[in-house]
Amino acid sequence: SLASHIGDYQFDNLLLNAAGVRCASTEELDKILDSDAGGCVTKSATPEPRKGNESPRMKATSMGCINSMGLPNHGLDYYLKFATEKQGNHGKQVILSVAGLSIDQNIEMLKKVQASSFSGLTELNLSCPNIAGKSQLGYDFEAVRDVLAATFKFFKKPLGLKLPPYFDFNQFDGIADVLNDFPITYINSINSIGNGLVVDPETESVVIKPKGGFGGLGGDYVKPTALANVRALRLRLKPEISIIGTGGIKSGKDVFEHVLCGADLVQIGTAFGFDGTPIFERISKELTELMAQKGYQTLADFRGKLKTI
Ligand code: DHB
Repeated sequence: SLASHIGDYQFDNLLLNAAGVRCASTEELDKILDSDAGGCVTKSATPEPRKGNESPRMKATSMGCINSMGLPNHGLDYYLKFATEKQGNHGKQVILSVAGLSIDQNIEMLKKVQASSFSGLTELNLSCPNIAGKSQLGYDFEAVRDVLAATFKFFKKPLGLKLPPYFDFNQFDGIADVLNDFPITYINSINSIGNGLVVDPETESVVIKPKGGFGGLGGDYVKPTALANVRALRLRLKPEISIIGTGGIKSGKDVFEHVLCGADLVQIGTAFGFDGTPIFERISKELTELMAQKGYQTLADFRGKLKTI
């Protein structure tokens, strides 16, 4: 079985799409819900619709991709309506992702979610790297504390946080200290590695237009960083906080590694962008076969059991 859960929310399959990839329209979201994925995550919403950054704003490479989309989305009302209508249908969860461009925008959107009849998981994205002039909130621990303190004064629904990748033990300790002070339902690590730069030596140029070519990295580049973040946070967060592992997943073996590090669920971004919804069936099969070879019946048989040497 590939079943898992986050708090009280059951997922028949631990695989989900990662926010941002092929999930901006209701047509794309319905396709994910019709696939073997355990549910779907909506494109991060802002209070109003946005066109996003100038194109070209995404470029595939042999190792993954670089993007600077700039939060193109249909606005919170669009996704809140979809999520409320589809949440729990056929046993599939809809996770509502929100990404305000300021703390005030996040609070404003979460108030709307609180006041709505949506009963699923909400994912607060603290880690979009692609808005010119805005830094990633997830790197400012005092700002994270402030936004969570303000949020939990009124927000009584289950909340997850999408975190940026951390690179130093000081950062793992610092963010965990903040998160452990709040009734967070889950964290999702990692978002893209922000502000990488892909260079084309032939044209002697950058490959995407926004921000002088700087953009978020996904794919093979990020898997070891993602595994490190899942592992480091699992070792530091209180057990009530579940973990979604995201980063570099393109095979059943990659999922297996994330679960060994402590992931309860996983999300697939770059590779889902390349392959579309058939990826959920393929990876489910690969993971099921790998578990059978190893004699594991459930994810709990090996979750978090990474060995050190
Ligand atoms: C975008 C990219 C992200 O990694 C993110 O978390 C949110 C938004 C984007 O550019 O649209």
